[in-house]
Amino acid sequence: MKALLKVEDLSVSYFTYAGEVHSVRGISFEVEEGKTTALVGESGCGKSVTAKSLLGLIEKPGKVGDKSRIIYQGKEITGYTEKEWNEFRGKECSMVFQDALVSLNPTVKIGTQIEENLLNHEKSISKVEMKKRALNMLKLTGIPDSESCMKKYPHELSGGMRQRVMIACAMITNPKLLIADEPTTALDVTIQAQIIALMEELQEKLGMSIIIITHDLGVVADMADEIIVMYAGEIVERGTARDIFYNPEHPYTWALLQSVPRLDSEDKGILNTIEGNIPDMINPPKGCSFCGRCPYAMQICEEQAPQTTQITDQHSVACWLMDDRADRTNVPFGRKNL
Ligand SMILES: Nc1ncnc2c1ncn2[C@@H]1O[C@H](COP(=O)(O)OP(=O)(O)OP(=O)(O)O)[C@@H](O)[C@H]1O
Ligand SMILES: [Mg+2]
Repeated sequence: MKALLKVEDLSVSYFTYAGEVHSVRGISFEVEEGKTTALVGESGCGKSVTAKSLLGLIEKPGKVGDKSRIIYQGKEITGYTEKEWNEFRGKECSMVFQDALVSLNPTVKIGTQIEENLLNHEKSISKVEMKKRALNMLKLTGIPDSESCMKKYPHELSGGMRQRVMIACAMITNPKLLIADEPTTALDVTIQAQIIALMEELQEKLGMSIIIITHDLGVVADMADEIIVMYAGEIVERGTARDIFYNPEHPYTWALLQSVPRLDSEDKGILNTIEGNIPDMINPPKGCSFCGRCPYAMQICEEQAPQTTQITDQHSVACWLMDDRADRTNVPFGRKNL
């Protein structure tokens, strides 16, 4: 499989009055052509900052670290100028956000908003062609009566429909990568499922890669080819959806799995939140970042950051429990001591 995007040692800091906030701390991953990668983790763990850095959207007081490398189709794009990023955004990579009502322009008709996105990248396109493509795209997103929707304003549509419009705006330029940052968080469960199904359908038809960001592992269970679990600006575990759901090895992944609302259980939809808070990102802990909240923490976890252990080609985890000397008798998932 070919990598569309390679991220190497990405770090992003925000320089605030309180100090340097280490939002993303040296993460590396790849996104394959036509595949879906999910970035999962709690609020504040660096998911959106990671996404923004892939689109050249880190603004002051933020700064991408000097050693960071973003490689797109074999070409390093980390040092792109604003003009180059402008061209890259939309044409190569588009983003869909959580709240369509904020991202869409409330005073411009839906059709015009989609057409404007197209015009930005295909300056010589004719009006007729532009209209036709906008309408076709809207139809592809499954909006009923697309023709009349073109003439509506965002507030005239339901949340789910607005999210479809956002996806149409993002996909009209036929980008090779779609980044969806919590695209379903503001929607109810049934509509969430429809939007996920729509993205999968578009991926099948148009062949783009997707990075989907969520704090809810349940959302990406069926959709993601690869799941990257982030904690406090780092990758703590990554693997196929199968690895993460059936053979998770990091205590933070276990906690995330236990916090997925289960519709089939008795406590319908009740979310187990993970106890404690993420560490202070101005002074991140010197050992494992999750150690303060981890029921299985050992002395070493406080003192030294764990190495990443490669379990299989696709599955890796950064946790001291993987060390041969660790006592794993009481762990709820993963390998026990045999
Ligand atoms: N403009 C900014 N200035 C200062 N700090 C920032 C800025 N943007 C993000 N951060 C910090 O970077 C860290 C990561 O933020 P990020 O938005 O990536 O989290 P997230 O994982 O997307 O969370 P959420 O699920 O809430 O969207 C947080 O500690 C946040 O406070
Ligand atoms: Mg976010």
